Amino acid sequence: MNIILLGAPGAGKGTQAKILVAERGMVQLSTGDMLRAVRASGSELGKRFGEVMDRGELIPDAMMIEMIDARLDEPDCRNGAIFDGFPRTSGQAEALDEMLRRKNLPLKAVIEMTVDENALVDRITGRYSCENCGAGYHDVYQRPSVDGVCDACGHTTFKRRPDDNAQTVRDRLTVYRRDTAPIIPHYDAQGLIQRVDGMADIDDVRAAIAAIMDE
Ligand code: AP5
Ligand code: MG
Repeated sequence: MNIILLGAPGAGKGTQAKILVAERGMVQLSTGDMLRAVRASGSELGKRFGEVMDRGELIPDAMMIEMIDARLDEPDCRNGAIFDGFPRTSGQAEALDEMLRRKNLPLKAVIEMTVDENALVDRITGRYSCENCGAGYHDVYQRPSVDGVCDACGHTTFKRRPDDNAQTVRDRLTVYRRDTAPIIPHYDAQGLIQRVDGMADIDDVRAAIAAIMDE
């Protein structure tokens, strides 16, 4: 089963994708994480990606489409893919339609996570993750059970994203409204949009998504 998690920056796409990976053995295809991995390599391409990401702008469609096309051919994607942060433009949505048809992979739903934009700056500026395993946390909303110790792997060092500041969040939100929100009608026309309230508690959002998956 393949699904798309769609929502503004900070809507909770990554948080819910990680839960689905743990509970259902699906694969999280986060284009943001893929780009951050290239950035961390320190290559010239990675530096260019970093500059675009820190401005809150988008990487060109052709590169993103190629990245996802190749990743989808890896065997673990047969367990079901969660598209997190892709597609983000009409061009990416159309390319994904074609790709899924060609690879014979059906799309179960496009889950739109709706949020109150005023909450997003708070969510994003409070976000951090484990340096070792990538488990996600928040200063207020999702603290580890023991302060300073990762619940998932016991590691004690954490990191924050360079694009997680109030200004970049506002820029990313503008780009979301301009380039990404217009793909909602594209999927609505295919009868695939399912809305969940992204302002609910993490576990309630999890339950709402589970209900859609099990329909
Ligand atoms: P990307 O990494 O995809 O960032 P984003 O879309 O801005 O989304 P976020 O990761 O910020 O939010 P999220 O919805 O995953 O929230 P999370 O679950 O972490 O992209 C980064 C950049 O890469 C882009 O700006 C662009 O430059 C580039 N890029 C990526 N994909 C691209 C593409 N396809 N094409 C072109 N360019 C691309 O939650 C946030 C925080 O809130 C966490 O701390 C969490 O603990 C907390 N939280 C989550 N849910 C709840 C809840 N229900 N209640 C309270 N707190 C919650
Ligand atoms: Mg994310």
